[in-house]
Amino acid sequence: PVRFIGNRSSGKQGYAIASACAEQGASVCLISGPVTLEAPLNVRLIKVETAQQMKQACADELNVDCVICAAAVADWQIKQTANSKLKKSNNKLPELILTETPDILSWIGQHPSRPKLVIGFAAETDSIKKNAEDKRARKNVDWILANSVIQSGKTVFNSDINEILFLSNTEVEYWDTDSKQAIAQKLVRRISNYFSDVRGYDVQKKDSI
Ligand code: C5P
Repeated sequence: PVRFIGNRSSGKQGYAIASACAEQGASVCLISGPVTLEAPLNVRLIKVETAQQMKQACADELNVDCVICAAAVADWQIKQTANSKLKKSNNKLPELILTETPDILSWIGQHPSRPKLVIGFAAETDSIKKNAEDKRARKNVDWILANSVIQSGKTVFNSDINEILFLSNTEVEYWDTDSKQAIAQKLVRRISNYFSDVRGYDVQKKDSI
């Protein structure tokens, strides 16, 4: 009830993407874990606290053209949450038993009714391209936006900038350091182009993106 396992992600990149999609006229549902950011305009926000809740919310919203999984979902969770605060006792360290959380991106990627375009992220500390390529194949994802956890000597978490290696099944493209908003706009432009090519949509192209 008091302490939990968390991570250093701020949610800024995901919120910037939701905002950029809405600005370009998409109907956006943002499923968000606990963050301290303001809800973007014109976005339907669903707040969740656990990986299970996020998976359930994604299952309820699966009937979409495109899903972008930018949440830093934990890979493990405590098997049995304590009911009372854990106390120090006789210098004995507590043993925390972990279990795996559901991998939501992988579940969506392999779902028979998966959205047409499934996009994931991959924050890596080393072998970025190889790890991201493996992840793309393993989770059956169309595009992966990989980034290094360390950028210019600082961690990407809570930072306002990002630097991306974009991977699809045919392309590898380096996106130079830019604001998370600019990265989001670049991604939205690509998504628009994808749907105009694939489906013959008449995508409105604005000068701003
Ligand atoms: O395997 P890894 O956690 O590095 O993969 C990152 C990608 O997988 C991100 O797109 C993240 O949102 C997604 N993910 C997920 N469910 C998890 C762990 C990661 O959807 N339990």
